[in-house]
Amino acid sequence: MINEIKKIERSAKTEIPEAKTAEDLQELKIQFLGRERGALTLILRGLKQLPEKERVRVGKDANKLRGLLESLFEKRGRELEALTIESVLKTERIDVTRPGVRQKRGHLHPHTTVLDEIERIFGSMGFEVAEGPEVETEHYNFDALNIPADHPARDMWDTFWLRQNESKRQNSPPGANPPQAEKVKSNERLLLRTHTSPVQIRYMEKHNPPFRIIAPGRAYRYEATDASHEFQFYQVEGLMVDKTVSIANFKAVIESFFSQLFKTKVRTRLRPSYFPFVEPGFEVDIACVICNQKGCSPCKKTGWLEMMGAGMVHPNVFKAAGYNPKQWQGFAFGMGLDRIVMMKYKIPDIRLFHSGDLRFLKQF
Ligand code: PHE
Repeated sequence: MINEIKKIERSAKTEIPEAKTAEDLQELKIQFLGRERGALTLILRGLKQLPEKERVRVGKDANKLRGLLESLFEKRGRELEALTIESVLKTERIDVTRPGVRQKRGHLHPHTTVLDEIERIFGSMGFEVAEGPEVETEHYNFDALNIPADHPARDMWDTFWLRQNESKRQNSPPGANPPQAEKVKSNERLLLRTHTSPVQIRYMEKHNPPFRIIAPGRAYRYEATDASHEFQFYQVEGLMVDKTVSIANFKAVIESFFSQLFKTKVRTRLRPSYFPFVEPGFEVDIACVICNQKGCSPCKKTGWLEMMGAGMVHPNVFKAAGYNPKQWQGFAFGMGLDRIVMMKYKIPDIRLFHSGDLRFLKQF
């Protein structure tokens, strides 16, 4: 038995310090100290059968061995624990001093920023925002605006007509009709609105005067593109109707608007012009805010920038919307949003807006 103890001691001294993992160590613990078949346990259990003298001697040695085993296990246990912490530290290291990865954030398109500002300014003067569909009927885009089919003024708006029968048959799922489908007479031709003026009619059909609205949105024209023309562009329509509304009212509103937008007192001038839905009609110029009327290329050295078409609402337009033209007066205007944004940010080409070029967009 003494020999047996020596043997256990030897193998414990080599095996325990070499245990590679906590599991291996646990395995050895069972092997040496396990309650059922542990090597030392068997010895202690066998003590009973020994004669008195021998039992004392062997018992002493066995107890010493137990102390040794326990301290060996404890030591290796601590070592293994330290090793795992060390390897976790090594592999899962986080360098808190490392610079972070910058998250890419989107932001508002310059159109949106300027439009928000325009809505705020007109809002402060009592104008509400109205909307209408981009796919329009011939009625709202032309006829109701005093532009009958055979009228030469239709040529002012090169139009994208929709091939509706064909598209209905081929790929329009049910319900894919334009928003105001209920208003479309079955044989009526559809188009992409060439201006935001149809919103005037749509709004008047649903609301009673007096009111003031602006109607911002996209418009489309079937034309070649260049630095200042896109086939898709943005307009802001304006319409004010009341019992007495004058050109002087219009001039005051529009001068106040441009002055707030460009953050400086802006002079305006009205030049006679023609639009079928207004009478009289005019073109609105502002004193060039870029060169202060000294003459630059955006104002073509004239000192004036053309900003919008406008005029007093034509009686036929009121009639088409169901208003009595003897009772109501109004002014209407339509301005190009792209132009204003281009001036505000000195953007040289309208085509940049929807180029999808991030180098362009990131500047705003
Ligand atoms: N709808 C006109 C255009 O797009 C602009 C306009 C609007 C003119 C309102 C007069 C009154 O050319």
